[in-house]
Amino acid sequence: MKAVVLKKPGGLDQIALCERDETVPGPTEIKVAIKASSLNYHDLLVAQGHMPTETDRILMSDGAGIVEQVGEEVTEFAVGDAVVSTFFPQWLNGPATTPVGNFAQTPGDGVDGMAAEYVVRSTSAFTHAPKGWRHEESATITTAGLTAWRALVVDGKIKAGDTILTLGTGGVSLAALQIGKLMGAKVIITSSSDDKLSKAKALGADVTINYRTTPNWAEAVLAATHGKGVDHVIELGGPNTLNQSIEAVRVGGHISLIGVLTGFQGDIATASIMAKQVRLQGLIVGSKQDQMEYIKALNASDIRPIIDKTFAFDALAEAFDYQQSGSHFGKICLTW
Ligand SMILES: NC(=O)c1ccc[n+]([C@@H]2O[C@H](COP(=O)([O-])OP(=O)(O)OC[C@H]3O[C@@H](n4cnc5c(N)ncnc54)[C@H](OP(=O)(O)O)[C@@H]3O)[C@@H](O)[C@H]2O)c1
Repeated sequence: MKAVVLKKPGGLDQIALCERDETVPGPTEIKVAIKASSLNYHDLLVAQGHMPTETDRILMSDGAGIVEQVGEEVTEFAVGDAVVSTFFPQWLNGPATTPVGNFAQTPGDGVDGMAAEYVVRSTSAFTHAPKGWRHEESATITTAGLTAWRALVVDGKIKAGDTILTLGTGGVSLAALQIGKLMGAKVIITSSSDDKLSKAKALGADVTINYRTTPNWAEAVLAATHGKGVDHVIELGGPNTLNQSIEAVRVGGHISLIGVLTGFQGDIATASIMAKQVRLQGLIVGSKQDQMEYIKALNASDIRPIIDKTFAFDALAEAFDYQQSGSHFGKICLTW
């Protein structure tokens, strides 16, 4: 079978298509024909060699496809089922109690990923996909979609009438916009591009702010909320955006610390977090149970992920280049 791997020391020119042997599932495993994946910043960091992995690691965390074969003890899946991978196969349910964030069992990082024609995994590495979704659409759930769901629903306990602020128009942010609207929230979204903001408005965003032309965007958020601030922030920037997110959140509000788009450390207004009694929650994706609950909600909704562009798996380096250009709106996907 074909697989896309990363050679040492990493870098987009070290991505190579290779041949690997197919394997047979053990009693509690399933074999899945992977049809699609989607790109995340984490995959890019691995591919660039910034998160070192073993040589010839098969790339990509997100995978969606069709069950080809099941082990004799498997009851959760049957041949022909459409499935989507989980980011932390070892985290089945409940709050995070083990250091899953070391990515030791995350596909495309600590273990081989989904950029292969077939994968054989334990049943904990997959859930059923939403009914009727294309594989590219399902592949957006594993990382970006589930992260937005956990931030707003699992941790945020969002209520109809809440106001959320989400930063930029990438995969996590647009999933948050869609989940926010599904749950009856008012959504404020930022972007560097007025064109992307018009598209976000068409998806239901209530307030749009260009963070390039309005560098003090927290003031615009406060103005849009009558000085009160928002109930939830989907904080994707990190050090260069967090202080404005703290300014933009209401007293007692909730900030989901998710992204590292502007780096990994910085000067943070700790006194403001205290004074505003903000709930600042760091999070990394979610459990298999969270994913199943998200998919149950998706099955009861009309939501479909926003896919900007789809590349062939063997054009993965080109797809990462496109991701780095920042011109995308929503998700970038891969198919065989
Ligand atoms: N903790 C977790 O579990 C988890 C899960 C998924 C992703 N993440 C992280 O979340 C971040 C976003 O991931 P993604 O997959 O959604 O990325 P993505 O699809 O590549 O989105 C990137 C978008 O973010 C926006 N952006 C960039 N710099 C910004 C800034 N300074 N202020 C506001 N927006 C900015 C841009 O939107 P515009 O073009 O509209 O300006 C850009 O297109 C990444 O850091 C990623 O590592 C974390």
